[in-house]
Amino acid sequence: MRIGILTGGGDCPGLNAVIRAVVRKGVLNYGNVILGIYQGWKGLLEDNLIKPLGLRDVSGILHRGGTILRSSRTNPFKQKDGLEKIKENMAKHDMSALIAVGGEDTLGVAAKLHEKGVNVVGVPKTIDNDVVGTDRTFGFDTAVNIATEAIDRIHTTAESHNRIMVIEVMGRHAGWIATESGLAGGADIILIPEKTTYISEICDLLKRRHVRGKDFSIVVVSEGAKIKLSPEDKEEDMVLQDKKIDEFGHVRLGGIGYKVADLLEEGTGYETRVVILGYVQRGGTPTAYDRVLATRFGIHAIDYVQQNKFGYMVSLQGTKIVPYALSDVTTQIKTVDQELIDISEVFFG
Ligand code: F6P
Repeated sequence: MRIGILTGGGDCPGLNAVIRAVVRKGVLNYGNVILGIYQGWKGLLEDNLIKPLGLRDVSGILHRGGTILRSSRTNPFKQKDGLEKIKENMAKHDMSALIAVGGEDTLGVAAKLHEKGVNVVGVPKTIDNDVVGTDRTFGFDTAVNIATEAIDRIHTTAESHNRIMVIEVMGRHAGWIATESGLAGGADIILIPEKTTYISEICDLLKRRHVRGKDFSIVVVSEGAKIKLSPEDKEEDMVLQDKKIDEFGHVRLGGIGYKVADLLEEGTGYETRVVILGYVQRGGTPTAYDRVLATRFGIHAIDYVQQNKFGYMVSLQGTKIVPYALSDVTTQIKTVDQELIDISEVFFG
């Protein structure tokens, strides 16, 4: 069988572990030919970006961040004759199935393709951990560890200067990275998209903390956090980097940390500084957890193909990898559980 594999959307640590697992098991156990499709859906639309991946191509990549297949945010359903071109190119390469590794956008395309008769299996990835149907996406653990280490480091400089330090992390419209790194790093306040936070209340909390004898504070802000000045005020607009919208309709978030820092400095009188972690969270070597999860996902994905189990993504539920219908993935994102939000709030102030 000839099977294509692509990685779409924002990269994340662990993508290479999936590719390696698919090629190893596909070639050695099933005698498949694995075709690497470069630059996500763009590669499948443009025929010059498809090449066979052999065992040597995937040797030594397990610990490497990024994706050897490169990625793009191309949406084939936004391209003229996108579906026809995909079907045509798959036929041309005698590709009878496709493994699509990506977040909600890539998996959404995979679901639509499956509806249109393409044999596809999905693999959920993203540092944001916001894909429904799986307890974890790989890449998330690495991002949380990087953010936690940053918070640990920022603690000491915050303390030395009696400052409020605002640390902005990624996560788009889900506060998983902020909540888990904030919990692990002992943040005094965590602002997330799941819950509107009143800046006036945060200022009061921070002032009380400083009266109690703590001269510094750590505030973790998710890039998509929702804030209001006070309960009576209207919600602040999301802070965007520019007005651009990608092919999946996403705005570019980033910069809310500066806004929060200004408001906190103004409201408390304490000197405040900002750190925006940005792409550092997405780059570099995956944690052991992400390498193992990504490897398990890759192995199950090639097994699903072998078993003709199309229209599913591999998912982690509890400790098991199980199939989850792609048609159920697309409707909404997975946001932070109330239980975890409640736990993080115990440590506020
Ligand atoms: O989805 C992963 C993510 O890193 C988000 O946390 C972030 O908002 C977005 O991608 C950034 O996207 P881009 O790589 O297009 O700048």
